[in-house]
Amino acid sequence: MSLRKIIKFLCYSAAGIVSVLLLAYAIAYGLTQHRLNRRISVSIASVSVPTDAASIERGRHIVTTRACSDCHGADFGGKKVIDDPMTGVFHAPNLTHGKGGLPANFSDEDYVRAIRHGLSHDGRALTLMPSMEYAELSDEDLGSVIAYLKTLAPVDRERGPISPGPLIRVLVALGKVSLPAEHIDHTSPRLASVTPGINANYGKYLASSCTGCHGPNLSGGKIAAAPPDWPAAANLTRDASSRITGWTEEQFIRTVRTRERPDGTKLNPIMPAAFAEMTDVELKALWSYLATLPPTPTGVR
Ligand code: HEC
Ligand code: HEC
Repeated sequence: MSLRKIIKFLCYSAAGIVSVLLLAYAIAYGLTQHRLNRRISVSIASVSVPTDAASIERGRHIVTTRACSDCHGADFGGKKVIDDPMTGVFHAPNLTHGKGGLPANFSDEDYVRAIRHGLSHDGRALTLMPSMEYAELSDEDLGSVIAYLKTLAPVDRERGPISPGPLIRVLVALGKVSLPAEHIDHTSPRLASVTPGINANYGKYLASSCTGCHGPNLSGGKIAAAPPDWPAAANLTRDASSRITGWTEEQFIRTVRTRERPDGTKLNPIMPAAFAEMTDVELKALWSYLATLPPTPTGVR
């Protein structure tokens, strides 16, 4: 082949690759748009919502330690959570009843639909909202969470847009990332209540808050669909590759509370500070649950 022919060939193949990529992206866009707009209907169990001060306080503690305000804002008036050209723009909505907040007719059932099933009040699969971590909350705990949310002081702030970027669309289309509502078992029976205690069972119940980032088996590694600048999550199993192997319970608790590891290094801010508010019983229960996990190499999910 002459040089001219080679150049011509290269130009044609580059144009070919670009059009194949554009076509693939158009398909990915269409597929994700369909999945984002589709209405999912599930049967919603009724959860009784208490009004006494102790339950509202329990609800406040759960909302704090489940890090809801990391996304919905310290005043629950909503905020921008992700703004990245590849990942997209995601705003968590205003959860108060101020201007721009939840609709006036947002019912107890709508709270259950969002928190336990990952669906908006109009049946659309919520994006980013980690409902799979809350899906197993007991009826009693979920009722307390709703009771507390209903006491939030109104904040006037309009709901910001949600627009998934190209990376998310391609990952969703390839089946690498799914919407929370798509991997929640909507029919599994929920516990009526759980009794807090220093045991691995209660630790497992609480650890559902950790799986979204640390992975279903808590072996850490790359956080699914996270913006590129987020660090990998740490391995929480006692593998040779984990930092926590050899830590004592006290060192674990101190790391979560002070955000400084035993070796003096600081935790990246992506690891939520909200867990520092967990009680000793909760952190000890988590530690006893972590001890039961099979050691797994980092990031092997
Ligand atoms: C990682 C960020 C994040 C966390 C943590 C989070 N949310 Fe959300 N939440 C969102 C986003 C984003 C939406 C809107 C998604 C959409 O409309 O596609 C949302 C929507 C909601 C809705 C509104 C549903 C509707 O019908 O409009 C409720 C209620 C809600 N979240 C409650 C909670 C509670 C309670 C917690 C803690 C237990 C929580 N969220 C934790 C990001 C988050
Ligand atoms: C929003 C994502 C996210 C959630 C949710 C999360 N973590 Fe993390 N966590 C991280 C990241 C990222 C790191 C690594 C931080 C770094 O590199 O400095 C980390 C590090 C840690 C560490 C330090 C271990 C080490 O080897 O450095 C501990 C302990 C930990 N997490 C415990 C937990 C527990 C327990 C939960 C649930 C109650 C939890 N995390 C939930 C993101 C998360």
